[in-house]
Amino acid sequence: MKNKINILGLGPGNKEYFLPITQNFIKNSEILIGGKRNIESLGELGEGKQIKYIDKHLEKLVSYIKQNKNKKISLIVSGDPGFYSMVPFMKRYFLVEELNIIPGISSMQYMFSKIGYSYENSDIKSVHGRECDYITPLKLGVKVGLLTDNVNTPQIVAKNLIDNGIRGMIFVGENLSYENEKIISMNLEEMVNIERTFKINVVIVIPSEVKGGN
Ligand SMILES: C[S@@+](CC[C@H](N)C(=O)[O-])C[C@H]1O[C@@H](n2cnc3c(N)ncnc32)[C@H](O)[C@@H]1O
Repeated sequence: MKNKINILGLGPGNKEYFLPITQNFIKNSEILIGGKRNIESLGELGEGKQIKYIDKHLEKLVSYIKQNKNKKISLIVSGDPGFYSMVPFMKRYFLVEELNIIPGISSMQYMFSKIGYSYENSDIKSVHGRECDYITPLKLGVKVGLLTDNVNTPQIVAKNLIDNGIRGMIFVGENLSYENEKIISMNLEEMVNIERTFKINVVIVIPSEVKGGN
C-alpha cells in the first residue's frame, strides 16, 4: 500500500484540543472516515474532503479502505486511538507498518486533569458496550476511571458499588471540552437517586480510603 492509513485521535472533541500534526494530516487527506460526531467536530477542516461515515458495521469500512488504497485516507477517532478505540480492529486487517497512528488527548486524561487528580496508581477501564470488574480495585482503595454508555450509566455504576459495600465520591464529566461541558461530583449514595439522563460521559470514582496518592 502506497499511502499509510492515518488513524488520528481528535482529543475530547473541542477543536482547541486537536494537535497541529493531526490538523496537517487532515488537511492533506483526500478521504476522511469517522463517526458523525467526530467528522462534525472537524468544522472547516473537513470541507472539500470525501467523507465516509462509519457505524457499527465496521467490516464495510475495511473493504472501503482497500478499494481506495491509492488515496490519502484518515480514520478520525475520538480521544486517543490507543485507548478503547480502533487500533486493535485495524491491526486485524492491516499491518502495523501500513498504519500511521497519531495520539490524541483521551477523554479520561482530560477528565482527570479537570477534577485535579493524577491517573497514575488508578485503574482505568471501560463499561462502554462491555462489562468489567471495577469493584475489586475500589475495594483495594484504588481510584477507578470508567468510560460509560447508555446501559452502564453513572447511576448503575453507583448502585453496583453501593451494593458491594463501596463508599466514596463519584465524578461525572459530560460533553467534555465542548461548550456544554458539565462536571459534577457527589457521594455514591446520592448518585443512585439522580433521575436525569447523562449525556456522553466519563466517570471517576475515588474510594473513601484512597491508596497510592491523589
Ligand atoms: C469508544 S470510547 C472512545 C474513547 C476514546 N478513544 C478516548 O480516548 O477518549 C467512547 C467513550 O469515551 C467517552 N468520551 C469520549 N469523548 C467524550 C467527551 N467529549 N465527553 C465525555 N465522554 C467522552 C465516553 O465514555 C464514550 O462512551
